[in-house]
Amino acid sequence: MEKKNVLIVGGGGREHAIAWKLGQSEKVGKIYALPGNAGIAEIAECHPDIKATDIDKIVEFVEAHKDIYMTVVAPDDPLAMGLVNRLNAKGHRAFGPTAEAAIIEASKAFSKNLMKKYGIPTAEYEVFDSAKAAHEYVDKCKVPVVLKADGLALGKGVLICGTREAAHDGVKEIMEDKAFGAAGGKVVVESFLVGEEVSVLAYCDGTTVKPMPASRDHKRALDGDKGLNTGGMGTYSPVPFYTKRHEEEAMQKIFVPTVNAMKSEGRPFKGVLYFGLMLCEDGIKVLEYNARFGDPEAQVVLPRLKTDLFDVFEAVIDGTLEKLDVEYREEACVCVVAASGGYPERYEKGKEITFSDVPDDIMVFHAGTAKKDGKVVTSGGRVLGVTALGSDLKAAKARAYEGIKHISFDGMFYRHDICKIV
Ligand code: AMP
Ligand code: GLY
Repeated sequence: MEKKNVLIVGGGGREHAIAWKLGQSEKVGKIYALPGNAGIAEIAECHPDIKATDIDKIVEFVEAHKDIYMTVVAPDDPLAMGLVNRLNAKGHRAFGPTAEAAIIEASKAFSKNLMKKYGIPTAEYEVFDSAKAAHEYVDKCKVPVVLKADGLALGKGVLICGTREAAHDGVKEIMEDKAFGAAGGKVVVESFLVGEEVSVLAYCDGTTVKPMPASRDHKRALDGDKGLNTGGMGTYSPVPFYTKRHEEEAMQKIFVPTVNAMKSEGRPFKGVLYFGLMLCEDGIKVLEYNARFGDPEAQVVLPRLKTDLFDVFEAVIDGTLEKLDVEYREEACVCVVAASGGYPERYEKGKEITFSDVPDDIMVFHAGTAKKDGKVVTSGGRVLGVTALGSDLKAAKARAYEGIKHISFDGMFYRHDICKIV
């Protein structure tokens, strides 16, 4: 059997987990990554000079490398910019939604309106494109209230406002000061939901949806959910409080209706659809959609996948997902993120990372790392995702926290309460 070469677009922990998993497939030959990072470079040919948002250069790269069979587009920006459309137009195979489908993440106004139109449960909301109208609404609405910048804002465009005053400040920040740039052209103002959060990622081929096991992210920077919102400081899977009953409810009321809705809108979704869910007293509600694997959710669900990831990607692209059995291990998985001091605000880069006898069972997914003079140095806020499988969450967590003790760099910090439920 001839092995197939794959290109992965992106350079974070999620992309390292995807590369690592694809590297285990007997069907996959060479792996390329744009830009990749120091960890991905151990299994793939990386090109650090081509960023994930340089979509012209990426298309050129694929055109020039005739040996690439499939391109996996992992991050939100190139998806929203239409990289998959561009590759398909030139006859190349690509995994990920088109720009028309990726809008489910790229515009919160679009996704809220979609849910309203198709009766998919979510927090009640209004969308405003003028600051004046948003301020007037905030004068009368119930608090706490949640403000969301419409566009992509690195997971940071959401403000939870406990008082009316804070909500006015938030409208000013998003719409007048443009703290999240062009993402703040419109604002979604929605009611505050109370409940437990769960992330469910699902493979979709436009028609069929196959949810992966649930995972839970810890979004705040510091222990006890203190500090600022981040891209995610750690994850675990499975989620014990997301029961069979929840799985059925979500499938029936959320997952299937969403995939059908996108199809009806002429925007069939092919790729990974990420459902950010809130388990509320009156049922499960959608907090957000993402058009891709979560990061660091991918780091805990991919190690649990038994089926060949390459086969899953093929089935998604070909629209044959219904026929594929996608299987998972019973074992639990926990990922603890090691971050640069100061993240998510200001932090320094270029700190040498020391790995001292990291046990073999620990998976160290690189997120923000680079090679410099033969050394591995930090190059981002989230630096590493130290990940372990275990017979249950308690065992997996103990191994992940043991693993992180073998790693250090100047200013490194991590949360000590990832998966504190066990
Ligand atoms: P999002 O990017 O939309 O997932 O929002 C980021 C985080 O803000 C979520 O993970 C939740 O913790 C919180 N959040 C978002 N929307 C709401 C809401 N309507 N009620 C309560 N919390 C929310
Ligand atoms: N961990 C949250 C996200 O990937 O959006």
